[in-house]
Amino acid sequence: MLKTKFAIVLVLFALIVVQSCKKEVFDVSEPEEIVVPVDECLDVFYQNGAKSIVEAKCVTCHIAGGSGPGDYTKTDVLIANLAKIKQRAVVDKTMPSAFAPQLIDAEIETLRNWIDCGGQFGP
Ligand code: HEC
Repeated sequence: MLKTKFAIVLVLFALIVVQSCKKEVFDVSEPEEIVVPVDECLDVFYQNGAKSIVEAKCVTCHIAGGSGPGDYTKTDVLIANLAKIKQRAVVDKTMPSAFAPQLIDAEIETLRNWIDCGGQFGP
């Protein structure tokens, strides 16, 4: 009787060992995770960052009747001026003009990224 119980325990134990071995082998043979590169510009829309900056620090002048050329509340005007905006606000840093509130580095980076990603306007 004792022998039988022992045998049953032994068989169960063996099964557990075999199972765990199988699992290990299975884990090892699993293919490596494939990392699909995410398009960094996928969600870079005017509405996600650039808009609030332009509205706060450019539109004060760049609006109909304002001192700056072009109405930056208009999408087509912004699109037509993307290269110039990058040049003046990101590269030369001559906009906003001298006595207006200036852009901080993070804002310049947001504008640069938005323009470099193609100046997309969201849905
Ligand atoms: C205090 C008013 C004022 C603010 C604020 C301002 N601008 Fe200007 N901007 C001007 C004036 C005036 C001119 C024309 C004179 C010159 O080119 O410097 C100009 C010219 C420009 C030009 C050149 C336009 C051209 O056709 O050559 C660009 C581009 C520009 N601004 C972008 C910006 C951006 C981007 C911002 C915000 C980050 C900004 N400006 C904020 C007054 C302003």
